[in-house]
Amino acid sequence: MDIRRGTTSDVSELSALSSQVFLSAYGGTAPEQDIASHVESYFSEAVVGTEILRDDVSYLMAVDGQCCAGMLKIREGTLPDVLRGQSVVEVQQLYVSLDFQRHGIGGLLLDAAVAETRERGISGIWLSVWADADWAMNFYMRYGFTSLAEIPFMMADTEFVDHVMWLPVSD
Ligand SMILES: CC(C)(COP(=O)(O)OP(=O)(O)OC[C@H]1O[C@@H](n2cnc3c(N)ncnc32)[C@H](O)[C@@H]1OP(=O)(O)O)[C@@H](O)C(=O)NCCC(=O)NCCS
Repeated sequence: MDIRRGTTSDVSELSALSSQVFLSAYGGTAPEQDIASHVESYFSEAVVGTEILRDDVSYLMAVDGQCCAGMLKIREGTLPDVLRGQSVVEVQQLYVSLDFQRHGIGGLLLDAAVAETRERGISGIWLSVWADADWAMNFYMRYGFTSLAEIPFMMADTEFVDHVMWLPVSD
């Protein structure tokens, strides 16, 4: 399994993978129109195609031969109140294809994100995760993230409670 940076030629694959995994994990958690609106706003080819060109965003991909098994999106410039003043990046999206889950790929993608963050001299990674997503909370806590606070997260008109998770990466 190779981890590499996504490019403009990967937009359609990144869009398809993130939409499919999101729908399978979270598709039943909000009214259909809110889910559809979220998918369109975050995972459509148009949005991924715009995001991938930004200097403050990177997409990492786990690739097995021709097949993309997972993706992670890092972005700079957004941070919750509890981390105000810190130098941080956000892991905004992390999705592993159903056929590949629980084979260490999410961990490999996070390892690459940690290495990139450390190289850039940034002190840590934050992300937000739905408080009821036990599988994802298990995954992040096992990796070493800790929960700092709870914050509201709007999926279109549906409000969720998320945990702000934090991982320092300085040596
Ligand atoms: C969460 C996710 C990214 C983890 O990636 P992964 O490649 O499956 O995880 P890894 O194999 O690196 O790590 C596995 C560990 O994570 C936790 N974990 C992963 N899936 C789990 C599940 N369904 N139930 C409980 N724990 C789970 C466990 O601690 C597991 O260790 P174990 O298999 O020894 O018990 C992946 O399962 C996924 O894409 N899920 C759906 C989308 C999602 O929720 N993304 C996160 C959004 S914040």
